[in-house]
Amino acid sequence: MKRLAAYFAGAALLAGMLAAPAWSGAEPDYQQVHDGRYQAILGDCMGCHTQPGGRAFAGGAALETGFGAIFAPNITPDAATGIGGWSEEQFRRAVKQGVSPGGKRLYPAMPYPSYAKMSDEDVANLYAYMQSVEPVQRRSTPSRLRFPYNIRALMIVWNWLYFQPGPRKLDASKTAEWNRGADIVIGPGHCGTCHTPKTFLGADTSAALTGASLDGWFAPDITANARRGVGGWSVAELVAYLKTGHNSHSMASGPMAEAISYSTSKMDDSDLKAIAVYLKHVPASSAAAGSALAADDPHMRAGAEIYQDNCAACHGMDGKGENAIFPPLAGNPIVGQTSAETLARVVLAGTQSADTKGAPTQPAMPSFAWRLNDAQLADVLSYVRGNWGGGGPVSAGTVAQLRRDLRPNRR
Ligand code: HEC
Ligand code: HEC
Ligand code: HEC
Repeated sequence: MKRLAAYFAGAALLAGMLAAPAWSGAEPDYQQVHDGRYQAILGDCMGCHTQPGGRAFAGGAALETGFGAIFAPNITPDAATGIGGWSEEQFRRAVKQGVSPGGKRLYPAMPYPSYAKMSDEDVANLYAYMQSVEPVQRRSTPSRLRFPYNIRALMIVWNWLYFQPGPRKLDASKTAEWNRGADIVIGPGHCGTCHTPKTFLGADTSAALTGASLDGWFAPDITANARRGVGGWSVAELVAYLKTGHNSHSMASGPMAEAISYSTSKMDDSDLKAIAVYLKHVPASSAAAGSALAADDPHMRAGAEIYQDNCAACHGMDGKGENAIFPPLAGNPIVGQTSAETLARVVLAGTQSADTKGAPTQPAMPSFAWRLNDAQLADVLSYVRGNWGGGGPVSAGTVAQLRRDLRPNRR
């Protein structure tokens, strides 16, 4: 049936009677679908709502939060298991206010607090696009949140405390490019979902984009801070990172590699430039990353030896790396964050960089979990931070905790 439908799709388009359920026989507006597809890219809807290797938008893998596991549901236009039966208004309420049909409250693991900044027109286009994708019949996985967080009605209180709907105010003192960048970063791009520190109830604090822990990673400071943030990166270098997953300072892995593959690498160059211009104007963070150990500290000396034996072959004795193949550690913002979580995780678990059109090869960072014990890893990380990052030492306890948190088969 489906194949037959495909044959007739061309004719159906001409006749203006494409048989997708939500159109109830009306012709979809192709410009709208086209614009909506781009909104889905800006919002990275695919990233969370698709399981690795699964069907597009048919439901995602577990998002591990401090409150338990949440699963992004099926948002294909399947009438029974997806959002095929939803009206545009119902869709808009879910995406912009976090309320699904029947008054079901969504958790902010769905970034509706960011999407609330999108215009109704953009969301209408997004709706048109979402109703045009391949419907997939697949029951969504119920979330596994601990009591009392499993009580959805609590979100009424959360929204009352934290939710700030309404569009971002245009800043007339800034350029159109800056404003466009701000709109994307604060709105559909939802960069703060990962990069902004959270309150104990998971809401954004006012320290926007200064870096935050998530699921065993540390999404770094991306303010204009010259040392830890992106203040030392040029606009072109930022654009290159968001487009290809690497530049001469750093390589993306984990959640950022995914955000790049699904979202930023597919954004228009003009939008990437706008994001970069905006980020370079976000007021620099001021928190200190701790002070480095003295060069003659026994941990530093032990770390230097471990570094020479295990890391220098790829990253260089001077920590400068090998451009575009092995990222530098000297001056790498990952090394100088307030939290050494991403640094420790990358070395414990190894990583693969982002897979994008601009940079299809994927150099890999090997895992050292099996080769170095907690004390050795702590020493080498303290050395890397002390020597090149200006950050404080890493304790064996921190490494041990991360090692426990790393479950098999996770990123
Ligand atoms: C960071 C991960 C993430 C991203 C990105 C994301 N979602 Fe979600 N979404 C979720 C999660 C998790 C839920 C379920 C929340 C819950 O159970 O309370 C959800 C729920 C929804 C729902 C409600 C479905 C239902 O059956 O109640 C809709 C609609 C939706 N998302 C659409 C979108 C669209 C459109 C985009 C892109 C603009 C998007 N999502 C991006 C994680 C995400
Ligand atoms: C799903 C979580 C998530 C989202 C959403 C996200 N990031 Fe990231 N980002 C991370 C993590 C984690 C890293 C660290 C990755 C690494 O070091 O390999 C990172 C790294 C970065 C870096 C490199 C910083 C450095 O010092 O190396 C930049 C720049 C960046 N993100 C910008 C953005 C922008 C702009 C957005 C929004 C369009 C965004 N990120 C959205 C998680 C996220
Ligand atoms: C066989 C070569 C190789 C060795 C040995 C190696 N690395 Fe790497 N490393 C890489 C590659 C390739 C990447 C980039 C991959 C990525 O980011 O996904 C990388 C990435 C990293 C990063 C993340 C940089 C960023 O910008 O996200 C850190 C930190 C790091 N390595 C530290 C170390 C330390 C410390 C050691 C020694 C314990 C080590 N590496 C040994 C190849 C190596």
